[in-house]
Amino acid sequence: MSYAVTLIPGDGIGPEVAEATRRVIDATGVPIEWHEHQAGAAEAHRHGSPLPEATLESLRETKIGLKGPIGTPIGTGFRSVNVELRKRLDLYANFRPARSIKGLKTRHDDVDLIVIRENTEGLYSGLEHMVVPGVVESQRVITESGSKRIIQAAFKVARNFKRKKVTVVHKANILKLSDGLFLEVAREVARQYPDIEYQEAIVDATAMKLVMDPSQFDVLVMENLFGDIISDLTSGLIGGLGVAPSANIGDNYAIFEAVHGSAPDIAGKGIANPTALVLSGALMLQQLGNNQAADRIRNAVNTVIAEGKALTPDLGGKANTRKYVDALIKAL
Ligand code: NAI
Repeated sequence: MSYAVTLIPGDGIGPEVAEATRRVIDATGVPIEWHEHQAGAAEAHRHGSPLPEATLESLRETKIGLKGPIGTPIGTGFRSVNVELRKRLDLYANFRPARSIKGLKTRHDDVDLIVIRENTEGLYSGLEHMVVPGVVESQRVITESGSKRIIQAAFKVARNFKRKKVTVVHKANILKLSDGLFLEVAREVARQYPDIEYQEAIVDATAMKLVMDPSQFDVLVMENLFGDIISDLTSGLIGGLGVAPSANIGDNYAIFEAVHGSAPDIAGKGIANPTALVLSGALMLQQLGNNQAADRIRNAVNTVIAEGKALTPDLGGKANTRKYVDALIKAL
């Protein structure tokens, strides 16, 4: 049986890292039927829409997408395709594992965290208005149902991946009503998971503690903006955005993507580091039930980076994307 996956190459280095990831996944032998569709700034330039209906239709049909980064020009009225996809497919959970890669020198060894970010509410609800010229209000929306499903997602992940602790990150000391609600819901959900330790932590202190000693955390769950920032911090703990995978998951659909952007400064040069999307591909294989293939990809990444002979320039090497991918496939 083969799996149908919608492949969206995206902008900038997107097509380069998407092609690299496709090669690595195909080399595992897991049969994937790739349905390639476009989205992004280049697509908007070509055909007028950054998110063509055919792309959405394909995602609705296959239910699984692998997506390269998409450029969002600032100040052009161009809506973010990423935000649009999360809303249209109700991909409410952003899953950002941060696991150390052997051989990649970072501040701490053996980092192993999972950050789960709420993807549809908070300050990203897009509700902004000008009160009077010079005064703008942005609404931060926290709902009981939105909080419940993201906290349940965190506990389910903790149970499925045999993790010990869930930390709910908040700012309820200041945002008493909104984060107060988030915490109230969290405490209720936590009662249904007595086997998993429950902890609450204030967001600013959490940032400091993560930098000092990440081993005190395990699974962390939080609202949208806090999650956006904290998950980039945890990516920094494992070597930066070039190696950080992610998944956007809802009840019916899932899109796997790298955390980094379209890197216009190196696009087309053939030197992009595809690791983040390759590891996102491993998460996708895991979601499809192919844990073994996912582990083989992670081991190959660890091996090639530890050997240090075929690294892309961002990792301090001189190899191009193709050479790095050839080494990954050999290590598989
Ligand atoms: P960026 O992540 O594209 O680039 C930041 C720096 O990291 C650049 O120097 C770039 O060369 C480097 N870099 C990023 N990924 C790399 C990789 N795989 N290999 C080697 N070097 C890499 O962030 P920036 O410049 O802020 O954003 C560029 C565009 O990407 C913007 O239009 C932004 O909106 C979009 N973006 C899209 C995302 C997505 O689709 N998920 C996420 C973040 C930004």
